[in-house]
Amino acid sequence: MPVPEAAPGVAELRRDPEQALLGAAALGGLVWVRAGRRRLLLVSSPDGAREVLVERAGELAKPRSQAIPLGRRAVAPPGEGIAQLRRELSKGMGADRAEEVAAVLGAPVEWEDGESFPLMPWLRVRGARAVVRGAFASDLSEDEFNQLAAVVRWAGQAPRVLPRFAVPRVSRPLMLARLSVVVKSLLANADLSRPSELSAVVDLAPRERQALAGELLLGAIGPLVQESGWTLFRLGTEPEAADREAFVREVTRLHPTNPLIVRVATEDTSVGGEPVPTGSLVVVHVGALHRDAAVFSEPERFLPERWLDGRTAEHRFSYTAFGIGDRRCLGEAIALRSLTALLETVAREWELSFAAVDVAARGRRQLGDGVRVNVTRRPAT
Ligand code: HEM
Repeated sequence: MPVPEAAPGVAELRRDPEQALLGAAALGGLVWVRAGRRRLLLVSSPDGAREVLVERAGELAKPRSQAIPLGRRAVAPPGEGIAQLRRELSKGMGADRAEEVAAVLGAPVEWEDGESFPLMPWLRVRGARAVVRGAFASDLSEDEFNQLAAVVRWAGQAPRVLPRFAVPRVSRPLMLARLSVVVKSLLANADLSRPSELSAVVDLAPRERQALAGELLLGAIGPLVQESGWTLFRLGTEPEAADREAFVREVTRLHPTNPLIVRVATEDTSVGGEPVPTGSLVVVHVGALHRDAAVFSEPERFLPERWLDGRTAEHRFSYTAFGIGDRRCLGEAIALRSLTALLETVAREWELSFAAVDVAARGRRQLGDGVRVNVTRRPAT
């Protein structure tokens, strides 16, 4: 059977690609989508995800940076270089690092009873501190943390699907300059006597080191802050859910920070028997996989219970909040551990309520700065 084709409007793709592509994904597990002048292959079945991210990972490469085009090359050199870097990185991202990130993200909070404030700016600074101190074994000044939070906010506006739909151009030089200053301090203040994410990059040439450290920094803080926001938002509506780890896992199912995982064909290849020519974009729709009723019963409902037995084999290629295969997230354990710590700390002492939720589409459905939380202290039991 021929693979169906879809042509969502360019304006809709620009405004909310996740939603626009969800409509296309309804046509089948494999769909060719016309996006402006480009065509991309949209994949939304577990078998398709496995094929793209695991079996054909050699020919379907990850774009070098999906957040900020820091370097000149659009596609990372495949093979040993990346594998070696990932090995080095994972040495510095072990259980002790997870504990350090969790200690900062989950530290007691100093809120006033009855206070109301915008949630995301608060979380951005806290998330930046947690990652810098915990995962990078470094530190920054108060002012630098605020600068970093501004860059994280800006980078979070970058839709990660189509290269032409890039971050707001006006502020780009300013933000990259800020990031560069922050990364210099990060490197200067790092404790290199113990393994961290930074020890994997210190031996690189200065420009490469600077770019990669910046990318790693934003790649860790951005998703951690977004998932922290969704975790607290869900706590506001589901305060009694018992198992904290299952709660956090369910948050990542319903609110994946990378709802679209993108690959580029570096040679002629195929997916599900469909020929995929060199240069094609292949997009795995994580949001569609996570809402597949054949795998997740009542997919729209927030049901942490479905994760009580951990991640089952059934979910292996259907749950891809952290990716799968050779390029999956290296920070999954750190993220889950520290989100659980944040949830425990806040749930123990506070009740949260949200007036209105502003989900900024702009390429990803994320919590915007308009989201205000109201916090009240739980009565002592
Ligand atoms: C809940 C928070 C997080 C989520 C949902 C998340 C999700 C992801 C996803 C979807 C990818 C891309 C996978 C792919 O393209 O195949 C990724 C890559 C990555 N993540 Fe995370 N991430 C989170 C937090 C973190 C944290 C806290 C760190 C570090 C401390 C981290 C480190 C990385 C690294 C190094 C990569 C790049 C791997 C590569 O390109 O080979 N992540 N993450």
